Amino acid sequence: MAGVIDSVTLKTNLERMPGDELLRLARVLKVPIVKRTIRRSWLIDEVMKELEKRERKDELPYRLKSPAILLEDVTKRFGKKTAVRRLNLKVEPGEIVGIVGPNGAGKTTTLRMLTGIIRANSGTIHVDGHDIVKDSILAKERIGYIPEKPTCYPSLTAREYVMFTARIYGVSHDTALIRMNEYVDLFQFDEFINTYIGTLSKGNLQRALLIGIFVREPPYILALDEPIYGLDPRGAWNLKKLLRELRNAGSAILISTHILEVASDLCDRFVIMNEGDVVGRGTFEELKSLFPDARSLEEIFLSLTGGIPE
Ligand SMILES: Nc1ncnc2c1ncn2[C@@H]1O[C@H](COP(=O)(O)OP(=O)(O)OP(=O)(O)O)[C@@H](O)[C@H]1O
Ligand SMILES: [Mg+2]
Repeated sequence: MAGVIDSVTLKTNLERMPGDELLRLARVLKVPIVKRTIRRSWLIDEVMKELEKRERKDELPYRLKSPAILLEDVTKRFGKKTAVRRLNLKVEPGEIVGIVGPNGAGKTTTLRMLTGIIRANSGTIHVDGHDIVKDSILAKERIGYIPEKPTCYPSLTAREYVMFTARIYGVSHDTALIRMNEYVDLFQFDEFINTYIGTLSKGNLQRALLIGIFVREPPYILALDEPIYGLDPRGAWNLKKLLRELRNAGSAILISTHILEVASDLCDRFVIMNEGDVVGRGTFEELKSLFPDARSLEEIFLSLTGGIPE
């Protein structure tokens, strides 16, 4: 019915409906009926309101809050070591932000705090407006995470894993199957969909996890830890193309990487980290204006993280 019948026709149809049918429809639509005697015209109006509400919901895709990811003054210590120091970071819907930095910079720690796996010592983190500590279920539900070292359900096949994920996230079986097949094609995963997760190669495990994310309802908030590392050139190319398309359709994407080619041709903005601190941030052009002699993101990166080797 959504979008097909105009409201005048809808009202005429409802007016023609026998009383008991109208009442049944009102119950299905969960119209709050508290009075013992109700007027027919009131009931028709309430049913109309509910139907129109649903119609609007069907037509408008979910839009992420702005910012989709927000970290404010976040610090994480492991014993005496400060892995992340007073980090501020946000990602808007329709944006790909790259956290780049050398080994041990704090990239993985940042993503693990954002996804609620570990807790920050101080500062606050919001995902789609939900606090990762106070509203952890809502916040975690909104985010798709690919970890650096995935360990998940080794005794499920990739297909079982993807369909299980779809169920957890409330995606109907049919929709999940359609989406799964679409992404299996895209990632050329046909051969492996019935393989046990525990026996997949690194790159194929990454593909299975990505398919598990993309069976959910877009737009997505993604936290991807080194997503390209491990994929072969074709897989990497397909994933980058897909991430750009998702970004253009309103998803918010945060990726960590130390592979600068990945960052430079994928990310809209960069946050450069070194030993837990942000040492630079901005678009490539903005960063370049700080280092006018730099020819590439690589040179900017090296200048900010210990200098260019002789
Ligand atoms: N669970 C932990 N216990 C103790 N120290 C940790 C733990 N996790 C991370 N660290 C330390 O925190 C620092 C940041 O680590 P992190 O894994 O975030 O770096 P990274 O930027 O992801 O590096 P890489 O590029 O190697 O993946 C490192 O010094 C690391 O040894
Ligand atoms: Mg890491």
